Amino acid sequence: MSEIAFLLNGTPVRVVPEGPTQTLLDYLRDTKGLCGTKEGCNEGDCGACTVMVTDAKGAQALNACILFLPQLDGKAVRTVEGLSGPNGEHHPVQTAMVTHHGSQCGFCTPGFCVSMAVGHLAGRQDHDTVLAGNLCRCTGYAPIIRAAQSAETAPVPEWMQTDAFNVAQISSGARGQTAPGHLSPRNLDAFADWYAANPDATLIAGATDVGLWVTKQLRDLPKPTFLGQLADLQRIDRQGDALRIGAGVTIEALLQAMIPLHPSFAEMLRRYASLQVRNAATIGGNIANGSPIGDGPPPLIAMGATLHLRRGAQRRDLPLEEFFLDYRKQDRQPGEFVEAVSIPVSAPALRVYKLSKRFDQDISAVCGAFNVTIESGKVTKARIAFGGMAGTPKRARAAEAALIGQPWSEATLAAARDAMAADYQPLTDMRASAAYRLVTAQNMLTRYAHDLAGSPVSVLEVQP
Ligand SMILES: Cc1cc2nc3c(=O)[nH]c(=O)nc-3n(C[C@H](O)[C@H](O)[C@H](O)COP(=O)(O)OP(=O)(O)OC[C@H]3O[C@@H](n4cnc5c(N)ncnc54)[C@H](O)[C@@H]3O)c2cc1C
Ligand code: FES
Ligand code: FES
Repeated sequence: MSEIAFLLNGTPVRVVPEGPTQTLLDYLRDTKGLCGTKEGCNEGDCGACTVMVTDAKGAQALNACILFLPQLDGKAVRTVEGLSGPNGEHHPVQTAMVTHHGSQCGFCTPGFCVSMAVGHLAGRQDHDTVLAGNLCRCTGYAPIIRAAQSAETAPVPEWMQTDAFNVAQISSGARGQTAPGHLSPRNLDAFADWYAANPDATLIAGATDVGLWVTKQLRDLPKPTFLGQLADLQRIDRQGDALRIGAGVTIEALLQAMIPLHPSFAEMLRRYASLQVRNAATIGGNIANGSPIGDGPPPLIAMGATLHLRRGAQRRDLPLEEFFLDYRKQDRQPGEFVEAVSIPVSAPALRVYKLSKRFDQDISAVCGAFNVTIESGKVTKARIAFGGMAGTPKRARAAEAALIGQPWSEATLAAARDAMAADYQPLTDMRASAAYRLVTAQNMLTRYAHDLAGSPVSVLEVQP
């Protein structure tokens, strides 16, 4: 295991991790004695372990429990201990939490304060979104939100502005090396060749899935290989009428890119996990893991996305829906990886609906994406895709066939809803019963028709 270097609360540290999958949370608490960062769920759900991580892209809130030490090489970490000033001055959000009685047992409070401080640094006022990944069991959220609001106008403390300047001075001198046990490549071509020759390696992008293999399943991962330093995977490029999104683009970066182009997709992504998870999770990981309930694939498939796969110097493209062969079985050869996904820049009829038990921070029971073209009152094209309805993300081919060539009418919609029963035989699990899933998927088509007609259909717009 090679040495990594990062700033910890403004002080440079060099450390040889105990192993490539030692988490930042364990390092902070067990090695550094920085116990302000709490362990709640140890799976990315509760935000008790939230830390601020700064790199060239700026400061972000991340969950330390599913962040491996090698992911921090060359970055700056600020824990709750680093929020207060050099003479023990409180950060404005800490003062506000006291003033507004934002804490009872206090277990969640460090995580809340770090999330609030990162939001404060960026001048954000969308506190519900910023704090959606922080759970509090006893205070209740109103005092916490009031605290965040009251701190909005306080200036950012000087000590909170130093990480961005100092981070450039950090260098481990060991990056890109290919020693067994730790690989953090920086060159995409070299990585592609290496992975083709080492197909047993475990690719780690944001670690929001892989992190749980370690913290919950206690797995040892063969040849962990961190993709986070591959800048070429993190690009979003306009190519004519298409947008090519690198596999390493985070869900939060994707969300920001979708706001002007595909606002309904962006609105759904706002409900994808929490800000801490979206700051880490990548679209490549979301596609590659092949989950039937991943939120990325349905809208991408409904837009007609093309997946770009690469093995060594060989590249191949395929329609995204063809990548998903069966439950957790993808069309990916040994040594092949997801390089990018391309979508059209324009899809004005795209709408995406996520159904989950909670509004924020919950996995979809059903995620439906609709992209229907209507010309002179007739349906000329239809692409409909669902997550949560089959063993893979899957198009509703029978429903599409029932729409195409028909007038956009209630009778046609009814026929398409009926056809969905042929498209899907969903499962019953803890999130929803099979019958509920089918009915709600059918109802989403009705919702789509109302949406296209201009009726409010968002749960945030509908008034009792
Ligand atoms: C608290 C929490 C909430 C979540 N909520 C949601 C949610 O609302 N919606 C949702 O869809 N998902 C959710 N997830 C799941 C997870 O965030 C996503 O699946 C995520 O996009 C995975 O991306 P990652 O970069 O973290 O992948 P990783 O965990 O790094 O990797 C996932 C898999 O993909 C492989 N992989 C990664 N990159 C590549 C590549 N370029 N080529 C080939 N293989 C690759 C890895 O080897 C691994 O098998 C949640 C996770 C957590 C912990
Ligand atoms: S301990 Fe719950 S998110 Fe990390
Ligand atoms: S104050 Fe007790 S969990 Fe939030």
